[in-house]
Amino acid sequence: MTRLVIVSNRVAVPRTGRRAPGGLAVGIMAALNEWGGLWFGWSGKVADSVPFKVDTQDQDGITFATLALSTQDYREYYRGYANRVLWPLFHTQLHRVEFQRQDLSGYERVNKQFARRLVPLLKAEDIIWVHDYHFIRMGRELRRLKVSQPLGFFLHIPFPPYEVLRTLPGHEDLLRCLCAYDLLGFQTELDRKAFLYSVEEALGAMVHSDGVVSLSGARTYSGVFPIGIDVEEVMSQAARGRQAPYGRRLIGSLANRTLITGVDRLDYSKGLVERFHAYQRLLDLHCAYHRNVVFLQIAEPSRGDVPDYQTIQHTLEALTGEINGRFSDYDWVPLRYINKGFARATILGFLALSRVCLITSLRDGMNLVAKEFVAAQDPAEPGVLVLSQFAGAARELKDAVLVNPYDIDDVVEGIARAIEMPMSERRRRWKNNMQLLRQNDITAWRCRFINMLRECAVDKPNLSWHKRSLPSLSLMPSNKSSQPTERLEILSRGMQPSEGVLKHAHAPLSADCRLEVD
Ligand code: F6P
Repeated sequence: MTRLVIVSNRVAVPRTGRRAPGGLAVGIMAALNEWGGLWFGWSGKVADSVPFKVDTQDQDGITFATLALSTQDYREYYRGYANRVLWPLFHTQLHRVEFQRQDLSGYERVNKQFARRLVPLLKAEDIIWVHDYHFIRMGRELRRLKVSQPLGFFLHIPFPPYEVLRTLPGHEDLLRCLCAYDLLGFQTELDRKAFLYSVEEALGAMVHSDGVVSLSGARTYSGVFPIGIDVEEVMSQAARGRQAPYGRRLIGSLANRTLITGVDRLDYSKGLVERFHAYQRLLDLHCAYHRNVVFLQIAEPSRGDVPDYQTIQHTLEALTGEINGRFSDYDWVPLRYINKGFARATILGFLALSRVCLITSLRDGMNLVAKEFVAAQDPAEPGVLVLSQFAGAARELKDAVLVNPYDIDDVVEGIARAIEMPMSERRRRWKNNMQLLRQNDITAWRCRFINMLRECAVDKPNLSWHKRSLPSLSLMPSNKSSQPTERLEILSRGMQPSEGVLKHAHAPLSADCRLEVD
């Protein structure tokens, strides 16, 4: 029986007392629920001495297997190489990169250790899907340990242009590690192209017109899989959230003022400083908005022991003081800056109550909040999304008000346009965006990736997995009466289904598809 094995740095282990997981975790859980499987990664714990034993917990056919990090591993792998090198570099924030050879060793060591600990937990029929920049080297380590199951990797964050990537010492090896996977998934075509160009330039790899990379006799497939959301789940949570006490108290506190909302991890890549400057200029230029708008920025602290994250926190606190000091009145505070997280339903309720959502990322793999805001809206009176053109979501949500966060006046104009937008235009834009969200929801995303990974593995006769009997797996619209809509190749632009590979590329996709294993 085919089982799905997910590897990611964070694991949404149930009953850990942590807040409800975000959209991605919800999607991964749905895949694991469907297939049964294993979710493997870091427990979130840091200990001076790490027990050798992997901590496992079974629930409803899913095994959660986690490991703690030693203090040194945490410092070098997580805080060092992952978050002071790969994160800023991949977000094209070169000036923030602080490369240390020791951190690279830590990253290599943790990827190796985690691979070693994973192997005994694997079964012959498994499909392994590794997520994000923390575990780029995992694929090669697993292959070295003779793991022959299909291996896929999805990069949730952007892939940098080659000119940026090549500043990283050892970038050639990182690219070789990526080529150890059978399938690489990217959020946008831009990211995939940047990767293909890099392997050609740095490694002299052969890149075929269908996006297949040939390197040292091995083939790696690549595709574009923009991550989606569970539209129905967001809609029902948002409806709950707006009726809940938090939602009602928010509405009461607004006294009929227009609510502009931003929801982000407190991260420099989100363009929060630029956003605050734009809001300040909006108030400078438009007296009519004084006392009539409220900007609610929720920014949950993140990676607080990385110096750049401490700096941005101080900058935003100072800017909040400046803005509120300049414009507040005895009964109006223009900016509510909140440094904590809320339950998922509460956040979705806040988004549902917002007239404008402000997303000004300087660079963002996708930005699921953009999609969640659209899905949370009341169809009769939808709010308007102001979205950075540098977020992956902008490639799909073309009916948002797209802005350039590097041009403050463009953001100011975008906010004003969103506030003033006539209802008919709001409804038209919302409808178009919603259609897209339904076509490419979280189920379609994982179905596409997993199906393609299976196909890639079948096409690779060197994998022993290939020789076993494969359960037939198809991407089926669960509601047969629904209209077939988009086809995979729209989202995997540039990929031609090749013989024996991607035969599901032409499977009709509906908003609601499921994987069938028989
Ligand atoms: O979205 C990118 C990402 O790094 C995820 O992989 C991660 O779970 C999330 O941001 C939060 O970051 P961290 O795990 O470093 O707190």
